[in-house]
Amino acid sequence: MCGIVGYIGSRDATPFLLEGLRALEYRGYDSAGLFVSGSGAQKRAGKVSVLEESIPEGFQGNAGIAHTRWATHGAPTENNAHPHTDDTETVWLVHNGIIENYREIREMFETEGIVFRSETDTETLAQLIGRKYRDTPILEQAVADALKEVRGAYGIAVMAINEPEKIVVARHGSPLLIGIGDDGYYVASDATPLLTHTRNVIYLDDGELAVLTTDSYKVTSLTHALLNKEVQNIDWDVESVQKKGYEHFMLKEIMEVPEVIENSLRGRIDLEAMSIHLGGLRDVEERLKNIERIIITGCGSAYYAGLTGELLIEELVGIPVETEIASELRYRRFTADPEKTILVAVSQSGETADTLEAVREARKHGMLALGIVNAVGSSIARETDAGVYNHAGPEIGVASTKAFVSQLTVFVLLAIYLKQLRDGTGTHNEVIRELTRLPDYARRILSASENISEIAAAHAGMRDALFVGRKFQYPIAYEGALKLKEVSYVHAEAYGAGEMKHGPLALIDSEFPTIALMPLDSVYEKTLSNVEEIRARSGKVIVITTEGSEPAWTTECITIPQTHEALLPILTTLPLQLFAYYAALQRGLPIDMPRNLAKSVTVE
Ligand code: F6R
Repeated sequence: MCGIVGYIGSRDATPFLLEGLRALEYRGYDSAGLFVSGSGAQKRAGKVSVLEESIPEGFQGNAGIAHTRWATHGAPTENNAHPHTDDTETVWLVHNGIIENYREIREMFETEGIVFRSETDTETLAQLIGRKYRDTPILEQAVADALKEVRGAYGIAVMAINEPEKIVVARHGSPLLIGIGDDGYYVASDATPLLTHTRNVIYLDDGELAVLTTDSYKVTSLTHALLNKEVQNIDWDVESVQKKGYEHFMLKEIMEVPEVIENSLRGRIDLEAMSIHLGGLRDVEERLKNIERIIITGCGSAYYAGLTGELLIEELVGIPVETEIASELRYRRFTADPEKTILVAVSQSGETADTLEAVREARKHGMLALGIVNAVGSSIARETDAGVYNHAGPEIGVASTKAFVSQLTVFVLLAIYLKQLRDGTGTHNEVIRELTRLPDYARRILSASENISEIAAAHAGMRDALFVGRKFQYPIAYEGALKLKEVSYVHAEAYGAGEMKHGPLALIDSEFPTIALMPLDSVYEKTLSNVEEIRARSGKVIVITTEGSEPAWTTECITIPQTHEALLPILTTLPLQLFAYYAALQRGLPIDMPRNLAKSVTVE
């Protein structure tokens, strides 16, 4: 949520700052701004392109910081855009996160007659740092002193006009990393903008501060103790953050699904021994053997992946599982026996504030916390005891697509692995064999995207849509509805198909299309009967089913290859993602950056 970039070194900072903002725009896109040493600040409401057009000739300097915003406090206006400054315009600050006690700090300044220029919490921090800097004109000292007085979450980058050759960055709860390049040092709130410049990065941890100059960097605690941080290598390729000829990242990322499944499976299946290897869980294997209960948590799509994981683990392992959205779980009383219960946190970004907090709460309670995370080195990856990486590569489209599929894939692996720990190998050989065929099945579905595009185009004018499914398809129905809402702004609902006659059938008329997830599985007949009830009320039904199971009456049908029931959710997801994409395309919407949303929700 929001994006920060910074650069200090031997070349002009402005081109990198603008390029970095464009790369980070998927994290927040309602206003943007930058501060460059020697040139000052420039900001604009709207997209990065608007800011770019406003940059005057000669706006350059060898150090700068920049920000693309997703509004939390205050509307997306130019005044509320970052960078923010203090009343003397000495200190300039970009900030991700939320300063919780900003009202008190603001009141303190206002009683002194200081007039604020914005409604943001960030400006109070800028004022506070400015005040400390007036007393002690050493930027890192002023930043550390100010941060001791704020509560909340932050990832910040700060500059002062009196020290143009210095950037100070600090983190508490909002990700920040430093890139070490040949021509200087880079700062970013995620790795995406760095990939074309350097692969060597340092992830800051909470409570850490770094001072960057043109030819040096140091990381310290807020109390100035020097820290020896590991330099890590990012192995994502640059192409993975580019559109590669697709009109939108969302489509490109859906089309990448076959390789994503391959990557999630790579090195984890031994077909000779018919066993699953999850290296990230090796250290906690003994503890996993004895667990009696699992709690899964996540937000949005990750939560729906969790709900599917719940069914998979219950079905394939027989351990009771409950799944709870992280924003609720974090405030619930943990009653489970911590010795016998584990938490599984699911997160693409690994930075979702609620999910991270749920992990912290569970660990406080003594529970083992595992992560199913895509972003290597992210906060959730680091704060969980062990975990499984998705290996889906960077996901840029705001709506999660390939990452969701990889989460489902990892859940299948996890379920078989847990079963194997308890009962040895050999219990789910058919699922393992079918897992290896999934990439080809996915390719078959994607190669028939034309049909899905035509069906979506025929319904692009819809006002509402309903998604129904049962058992494994029930959470996928929710995911299908979420995807459609997000990118096409169509009001979409999801129900377990069996629930329809308990109320929602009243909504059905010939204008309200239903997308029925009914592959040939153990509840096919039941779902079919529920769908018949919808048809009997003049409801139009788009069927997603397995090849050969198309009902005779169907006029709009999308088929998927037949596979083991536990793997069908992975396949039914793809037509739903494409349906949402093509509906949004017809409606002419900004698919990769839907209104009001941002990738990676790092505030509560
Ligand atoms: C939906 C979507 C969101 C995320 C949710 C969790 O398409 O992208 O619902 O799934 O914000 O994000 P992560 O997985 O990064 O924790």
